[in-house]
Amino acid sequence: MILGREHAWATLYNPSRVTLKSAKEFARETVNMAAQYFDWLTADDVEKENLVPRGGGAVVRHGLTKAAVFRDLDGTFHECSAMCPHLGAVVCWNHAEKTWDCPAHGSRYDRYGKVLNGPANSNLKPIDAHVPHSH
Ligand code: FES
Repeated sequence: MILGREHAWATLYNPSRVTLKSAKEFARETVNMAAQYFDWLTADDVEKENLVPRGGGAVVRHGLTKAAVFRDLDGTFHECSAMCPHLGAVVCWNHAEKTWDCPAHGSRYDRYGKVLNGPANSNLKPIDAHVPHSH
């Protein structure tokens, strides 16, 4: 291997070879991990697909938090945290105005989460990328 030549026993001495036993372990771990990740992703994505019509918005689950999801007419999703930065209430989609309104003290945000009216003085927070949480 060091000389770059082929040798019949080369694989036997390859330090990165996977033995049968460890291969089984490895496969099980991989499947397990993938299943969890898949599960987690699809739950949110299906919810998003079902609840948010084109040109509309809805609050959907996002891992352990909630996302304010607006979907434009092309079908692209725009997401931010649904938690009002004023005192933490969850905003609601306003169909008529196409805004996010906070039921607690009346703050309003445009469809992309930019603050329009106080008392909140900052935008809805951007949402983290999909990161699988541990169980
Ligand atoms: S918590 Fe939203 S306006 Fe106060």
